[in-house]
Amino acid sequence: MLTDHEIKEIDRELEHYEQKRAACVEALKIIQQHRGWVSDESIRDIAKHLDMSPDELDNVATFYNLIFRKPVGKHIILICDSISCWIMGYDDIRDHLFNRLGINSLGQTSSDGRFTLLPIPCLGTCDHAPAMMIDAELYRDLDPEKIDAILKTYK
Ligand code: FES
Repeated sequence: MLTDHEIKEIDRELEHYEQKRAACVEALKIIQQHRGWVSDESIRDIAKHLDMSPDELDNVATFYNLIFRKPVGKHIILICDSISCWIMGYDDIRDHLFNRLGINSLGQTSSDGRFTLLPIPCLGTCDHAPAMMIDAELYRDLDPEKIDAILKTYK
């Protein structure tokens, strides 16, 4: 069930749109902000509130790779996998992160629950490739040593 607070925030977004469904991405973001991810139950509740079917809303949610449909770690690492970063060593950076997080594919979460690693298209800092973001922080000109130092700053 959506909380009163969540409903109030979603309704505030609805004021900007003529159709309720137009606010669906914002509504998903609001729920994710509060709960960390968007469960099937949340999809049903949000859809009902926006007069949509759960399937319609789920399609929207799965289209946006930054809406999480399963639990994620405390911090989200977004590693750029577009062309400049790829040329500048994406594979090595990704493998180093796999190693440090103890995972073996993108989309996984470290066993301590601290980090989830996800791919993202160009972060807009190609002249400082390779690049990644952790939560809202951008990191550029990455190499394995720099990554180790960065990861240590996250609890
Ligand atoms: S290609 Fe990675 S930041 Fe543009």
